Amino acid sequence: MAKGRFITLEGLDGSGKTCNMGLIQKLLVPHYTLICTREPGGTKLGEGIRGLLLQHQNAAMEPLTELLLLAAARHEHISKLIVPALNDGHWVLCDRFFDATYAYQGSGRGLHPDTIRIVEALIQKDLQPDLTILLDLPMEIRLSRIKHRGNTLDRFESQSYEFFERVRQGYLERAKADPQRVKVVGANRPLDLVQQDISSIIGKFCEYDKAKTYD
Ligand code: TMP
Repeated sequence: MAKGRFITLEGLDGSGKTCNMGLIQKLLVPHYTLICTREPGGTKLGEGIRGLLLQHQNAAMEPLTELLLLAAARHEHISKLIVPALNDGHWVLCDRFFDATYAYQGSGRGLHPDTIRIVEALIQKDLQPDLTILLDLPMEIRLSRIKHRGNTLDRFESQSYEFFERVRQGYLERAKADPQRVKVVGANRPLDLVQQDISSIIGKFCEYDKAKTYD
């Protein structure tokens, strides 16, 4: 059976990931068997680690500890869910993956990219997303959206304005370095326009993928 495809969705909290995961799912489900998952999380153990990462009581966690917890959750996720699903020919849609680590732990927390690359090489081997959609949001808009959401902020969401500005720049650098894979969508626009762009990116990707498969 042909190997499935791996699609990831990235962006700052407040960029509209949750509702756009729903859109991508709707676009793909009629054509492929799709598994939707998220990071940190995706397995029972990974969801437990997610709890540790998001809790305020762990506010003083060292950045390297944070990276290693994320890596432990990701290793479980890759070995137990993502790779088996792709090998069975399923498509996998994941809410965040390694780009988030370079953006949050690298640019945000200040870990050296080489440290992250070592962990990436250890657990990810040759697995790379085939397509990544990055929802890009200016900081002022993110702030007002988060305020209007009104729910309690987790350990990451309560970081400073400067932290998120660095994370945003980190994401944009990842996109600049790999424009073939990472497609940037301006999330600072009405939802229907954002979704038109996402639909067009997914449509083009599927057409290209079919052409490659049928070659
Ligand atoms: P979520 O809000 O998208 O569910 O993700 C939970 C938080 O985890 C989010 O604030 C970003 C953070 N995170 C990292 O810092 N590094 C990572 O590699 C991943 C996957 C998430």
